[in-house]
Amino acid sequence: MSSVINSTLTHLQAEANVLELTALLNQYNHEYYVLDAPSVPDAEYDRTFQTLLALEKQFPQLAHNNSPTQRVGAAALSAFEQVEHEVPMLSLGNVFNDEELFEFDKRIRERLADTAPMHFCCEPKLDGIAISLLYESGQLVRGVTRGDGYKGENITQNVKTIGSIPLQLLGKNYPERLEVRGEIYMPKAGFNALNQKAAAAGDKGFMNPRNAAAGSLRQLDSSITASRPLEMCAYSTGLIEGEVDELPQGHFAMLNQLAKWGFLTNKEMRRVDSIQGCSDYFIKLAEKRDALDYDIDGIVFKVDEFDLQEELGFVSRAPRWATAYKFPAQEEMTTLLEVEFQVGRTGAITPKAKLEPVFVGGVTVSNATLHNADEIIRLGVRLGDTVIIRRAGDVIPQIVSVVESKRPENTLSIVFPVFCPVCHSPVEREEGEAVARCTGGIICKAQSIRAIQHFSSRKALDIDGLGDKLVEQLVQEGLIETVADLYTLNYKQVCQLERMAEKSASNLFTALETSKHTTLPRFIYALGIREVGEATAKALALHYKALEPLYTATEEELQTIDDVGPIVAKHIAKFFKNSYQQENLEKLLAAGLSWPIIEEIDETTQALAGKVIVLTGNFESIKRSDAKKALEALGAKVTGSVSKKTELVIAGPGAGSKLTKAQDLGIDIADEQQLLELLK
Ligand code: IVH
Repeated sequence: MSSVINSTLTHLQAEANVLELTALLNQYNHEYYVLDAPSVPDAEYDRTFQTLLALEKQFPQLAHNNSPTQRVGAAALSAFEQVEHEVPMLSLGNVFNDEELFEFDKRIRERLADTAPMHFCCEPKLDGIAISLLYESGQLVRGVTRGDGYKGENITQNVKTIGSIPLQLLGKNYPERLEVRGEIYMPKAGFNALNQKAAAAGDKGFMNPRNAAAGSLRQLDSSITASRPLEMCAYSTGLIEGEVDELPQGHFAMLNQLAKWGFLTNKEMRRVDSIQGCSDYFIKLAEKRDALDYDIDGIVFKVDEFDLQEELGFVSRAPRWATAYKFPAQEEMTTLLEVEFQVGRTGAITPKAKLEPVFVGGVTVSNATLHNADEIIRLGVRLGDTVIIRRAGDVIPQIVSVVESKRPENTLSIVFPVFCPVCHSPVEREEGEAVARCTGGIICKAQSIRAIQHFSSRKALDIDGLGDKLVEQLVQEGLIETVADLYTLNYKQVCQLERMAEKSASNLFTALETSKHTTLPRFIYALGIREVGEATAKALALHYKALEPLYTATEEELQTIDDVGPIVAKHIAKFFKNSYQQENLEKLLAAGLSWPIIEEIDETTQALAGKVIVLTGNFESIKRSDAKKALEALGAKVTGSVSKKTELVIAGPGAGSKLTKAQDLGIDIADEQQLLELLK
């Protein structure tokens, strides 16, 4: 008898524990994925998760269908079941310019009986996969894709693995049956990481974040979905059944209610009071688009008031009360005409695709990068192929895939050169490196041109009046071969160059004179040492405070400097050992290039001496680049990524993964106000 009581007690105890652990994990999950503000470190989440998992194993009858342990995926299915939507999932009308947007507003107003004030809810149009989630008594019971709008696929197991989807609604006062709709998407950072992993494994990867999200959701084995970085953002409700006191009367308020029930909603959404407000919002978001953590393909405008929505109703398969203002497409199809092999400053040979011009991402594109030989193999692309080009933001247009079904019969394979197309020296590819290089060094005109262009560029010696074209002309005409030759140029010869006016020539000579007064970090950067960017050049300058010690610095010694790893150290040491470079340096110094002495910095007098700081998000009263400069002036080391070495993260609105990581690592976090205080 007593043993029965005991085991009942144990069972009861276990049940209570399961409930408590479930509530805790749901809370941690919401804090992490939705609020972007975890209250416990990952390790604590893992421990709690493991405890619940162990309890469920011991008491299988307590393992709830919606237990947080379900998030890792369940047994693989053989097929997805087709499900009918109780309320159809319609699509949206489109507009492509302001004129069409204002017509949309006019159409609405003409239909409405009175002229009561009307508002619009403005939301980014997320580029992912539409999803319908059904909750009964606050429990997630079903996740269905949009499908054809009337019938979709039951992907419940897969959606349960997505951290930002609540398995149980938070709070109270939700309808007995509630359908929440939204978009499942893959943030850009997660997409890039996933594709890098795929490339490292020799896999093709996904064409864009949308395809990656779709591919990840279409898995019969939900543990694969669980391993993919997906998010879900709620953008409306569907079916609502059951009495609830006081549901919101407008869309914007409803989205805020969804946030209270535990959903992720978009931080950018706004409620405006006119179509002009919509147009202004569009401009603002279009400017911000590249900085967002996720892809959007337009803006959705929805009449906010539910009673007005009802009055407006639907036309064919779309609501009259909403429209999508679309951005120009970022992907287009075109033909690969030719591949040109360009030689860079360090001899790197980059295949460049010449395309049939195509309008994509708002501009006409006729070139795209193919990166390297591996990329050509990865894509399986041939000359004459129909290819898909993607141009997103400022990123160089890329070929993302080949449309094999459109391959003509006479395509040719792309042959990577074995000799430099410019100087005909052999091309070599070091083991383990993706890049093939021309071995010509100084004898390669292409390398000389690029090296001189780099030397003259804005962040290097900033030689105004010596543009890329002029450098090419000077090298091609045989007037210069090296950067040092710039300072022995003869005025007369320059004036004789084609299209060279006397004024431009004299500007060039003034700029060359001015460039002689530089700084040591700029000078080191201008030398164009492989892997030595601005930050490393600065670190070297601050460490050695003069050029001469660099001549004899050993790889070991160099590696003691922050920012300098074994590969960079090897390149630096090799550069200064090279007799050609030594001669070049001597000539430059003889020409009178000089810089102010770098003072010994008394670190104790600097408020932020050596403090490692990361800036993330956007600030309202100061530009991030200015904040960086100001912090550095106080001795701080401002870096781009959060690691264990980071001592402070200053986060403005819109901060994302860096902030999360800082919180995970328990790093101090400051806001804009505190940043301004610091700078004072
Ligand atoms: S509202 C009846 N809001 O765009 C209104 N849709 O054709 C239906 N989408 O595939 C949609 N972001 O999944 C709405 N903030 C947003 C959206 C959004 C993305 C997608 C949606 C659908 C397509 C609309």
